[in-house]
Parts: sequence; C-alpha cells; structure tokens
Amino acid sequence: MAKSKTKHVCSNCDKVYVKWQGKCSGCQKFGTIEEVADSPTGKVDKAEILSHSGYAGRTELAEIQKLSDVKDTDIMRSSTGFNELDRVMGGGGVVTGSVTLLGGDPGIGKSTILIQTVANMSTINNKKTLYVTGEESPSQVKIRAERLGLDTEKISILSETNIENIISQAQKFKPEILIIDSIQIMFTSTNSSNPGSKRQLEDTTKTLTIFSKMNNISTFIIGHVTKEGSIAGPKVLEHIVDTVLYFEGEQDSRFRIIRSTKNRFGEVNEIAVFEMGETGLKEVSNPSAVFLTKYENPISGSSLIISREGTRNLMIEVQALVAESTSEYPQRRGIGVDRDRLELMINVLQKKLGIKLWNQSVFVSVVGGVKVVETAADMGIVLSILSSYYDKALPDGLVVFGELGLAGEIRKIQSAEERMREAIKQGMTKFIIPKGNKPVGKKVLQDIKDNNVKVYEVNDLYELNDALTELFE
Ligand code: TYD
Ligand code: MG
Repeated sequence: MAKSKTKHVCSNCDKVYVKWQGKCSGCQKFGTIEEVADSPTGKVDKAEILSHSGYAGRTELAEIQKLSDVKDTDIMRSSTGFNELDRVMGGGGVVTGSVTLLGGDPGIGKSTILIQTVANMSTINNKKTLYVTGEESPSQVKIRAERLGLDTEKISILSETNIENIISQAQKFKPEILIIDSIQIMFTSTNSSNPGSKRQLEDTTKTLTIFSKMNNISTFIIGHVTKEGSIAGPKVLEHIVDTVLYFEGEQDSRFRIIRSTKNRFGEVNEIAVFEMGETGLKEVSNPSAVFLTKYENPISGSSLIISREGTRNLMIEVQALVAESTSEYPQRRGIGVDRDRLELMINVLQKKLGIKLWNQSVFVSVVGGVKVVETAADMGIVLSILSSYYDKALPDGLVVFGELGLAGEIRKIQSAEERMREAIKQGMTKFIIPKGNKPVGKKVLQDIKDNNVKVYEVNDLYELNDALTELFE
C-alpha cells in the first residue's frame, strides 16, 4: 500500500506548506497550520456525494439549450409557521431544496427558533423533519422542546457530527426539512482539519448543499459568529448557500432581529423582530417602537432615527460619546454603524462646521444591538456627535433622517413620508429632515397638522446647525 502523502495547510487562509510551522506567513496567525491528507480525497468528492444521494444521470452530458426553451420550474415554498420569518425568506416560507445559513452570536436564540420551526413545520405542514444536534445532547434538546411546549413526538432527532453519517442516515430517513446545529462542530472524513476550521466548514457545507439540492431537502445550517480564533465564522460560507440570515440583538434585551443579507429567492435586508420569552421566540408584528428607551430627562449624545429595514420602519436610538483623548491617535469606534462612514462624517463635520475633533475620541453606538445599514441614519450619527460635543441634549420627541454628503450637503432619502407618518403614530412631534424630502403628500400633511408637528427642513450642515441652536435644551 502506498504511504499516504500529507501536506500542511493554514486553516484560516488556506496557504499550503510542505512542512509544519508555527506562524502562517499568509495571514500572520499562530497555530493555524494543520497536517492534512494530500490526496484526491482531500477535497469533497462530488461523485461520492452524488452516489450517496442516489441521484442518477448526473454522469450524462448536460444539453445546451436556448434560454427561451428552458422550462419554468415553480419555486415551491413551505411556511415556517412564523409569518415574519416567512416574509424575511422571500414571502411564503422556505424554498424546497434550498440551503439557509442562520448566523448569530452564541446564545442569541438560533437553536430555539429552529426547534420551534421544526415543530411548526411538522405539525402545521405535516413535513418530515430531522434535527441534527452536534452541540447539545438529545436529552438537552428534549428538555428545551418540552419547556417550549412543543409536540416532541413529531420531532426526530439525530446526535451526530460526521457529515457522511448524517447523509447516510438522511438518505434512509428522507426528511423534507433538515437542521444542522451547528456547522462548526461538524466534520467530513475526507479531510483531517479540525472541526470549525475554514476547510471543514466549507467542505461540510458544500457536501450538505449538493445533497440537499439533489434530494429536494430544505436545509437550515446554524453557524456561530465567532470572535478571532481557530474557529471560522459563517461569513466564509455565505457564497455557498442560497439564503443567509443573521440574528441581531443584545443578550440582555428580549428583542431579536433576524435579517436577510443574501437571498436567491427574495429581497435582502428584510427584517423580522422577535421577542424572547418563557416559551421561546414570539414574533412582533408591529415592531417600530420596541427599541426605544424612555428617559426621565433628555440626555446629551443621544438622538432618534427612523430606519427603514426592508418593509419595516424601526425607531432606533443612536448614541455618541465625544471625549478628549490623551493619546496621539484618538479612537473612532462604531457599534452597529459602518466604520468608514463614521470616519467620513467626523471629517466632514470638522471641515464644514470647524468643530475640533482631531484630539477627541468618538464612539458611536446603536442601542439594542441593531445594525444600521442605510445611509439615511447619517443624520442621527451626526446629531448625536454634535449633541455630545456641545454637551447639550436634543428635545424629547425629535426624530431625524437624511444622508450626509462629502460637501456637507444633506441628501434626500427614500420613503420619507412613510417614515414620518409612522413616527407621528408613535407620538413623535419634531423632525429634522433633508429639504429634498419636504412633505407634500395629503396624508402626511394632515398628520403633521393634526398632531402639531414641527418640521425643520435643512439643505446642509450650516442649516442643521441653525436648527440646533433653536432645539438644544
Ligand atoms: P439558544 O437558542 O440556545 O442560542 P444559540 O443556539 O444561538 O446559541 O438560546 C439560548 C438563550 O435563550 C439562553 O440564554 C436562554 C434563552 N431562552 C429563553 O429566554 N427562553 C426560552 O424559552 C429558551 C428556549 C431560551
Ligand atoms: Mg445552539
């Protein structure tokens, strides 16, 4: 028998070495280089998976055809039992034969929502489901399911971490819905990297994806968002799967957001809001005000935006702290906001308003663990920074939106009137908005009049500063 050859590969960046070494010269990480088999089986063998999947005909040559002759196949969907989750997945639920990656911090609720989903789908839809648990023991999963009041008779569970074994069990059992909890603990015997390494993550996910598509199984893969380390995160898998969903939110808040960041079958950046309670996650169908904090007295460094996430409006508090820095390089940090945009806004503020931020550290944070992706939130960031810099609070009931341009101009944004109407409905009474978004619609004008709402329309940072001298408490 020929001696099997091995090579050394960095599990983080895939750089190949002949010999083992402590530090990877590719990504500069320590302890990431592992010995792996250097044979054709070192990669996922598609033919082998196809033989597993029982799919015949794959070895035949595919026909070239006119695009117009391609048969339309209807996308089939099944409800997850959560209207909000169905909407995030593109309306109507999960697509048959698709693979969905569900990412999020450990402990945020990934296992909870998927065991609830499995229970819903097997009871409401009569789907055959299989929950593969690698992290928790079957009895732990049972205790949770019972506490959630789920019908455990309808849920089938497999405790396994070897992907080949999972596939061979799934071939016999033939589930329509498959849950993998979590991908970081799964491994394929076709390579010898550690579970959780980039190679294992990619290989197991590719294998599962091919298997799911060949057999029309809808698969959910759980992936923990990890801090730096030898365990890779869900990011490296996004290109393989059809749909990517992320959990957002803070452990100590009961509210969670599920956001789609990639969807081959629907819109991205659609969100669903859930509330974690005694009996698991419940959907919140009218979430616009759940992330609001009520203060006794207005505080400096805080402003409210109304952010449009997909088809949902969310009122979100943005906080900033501007503090003198003793270091030569003052810090600029953002939680929930884009770091590059924050840097840009700080520079525009310095240049246009002449405020001195060069020796000040600037921290910006979106309250509630929400991530703000749209530029309409710029005004909130700008206002919170100014409010902290001057140490003056903005008045209660003020909502802002608008995008900041490099020349200090405040640009108009999408769906302004709809946002205003929602904020007024939530009791807001003052707005600072881009002049380009001057309300003209009958309904919004009526709301403004009925509720005695004051609207400041601003073209640029100078006009914003003028409005602020009137508004600062
Ligand atoms: P879990 O789904 O285990 O997180 P993940 O799989 O993303 O790591 O969620 C665990 C957290 O949720 C834990 O802190 C307890 C809390 N929780 C509740 O508050 N209520 C419940 O009904 C359940 C099942 C969990
Ligand atoms: Mg879990």
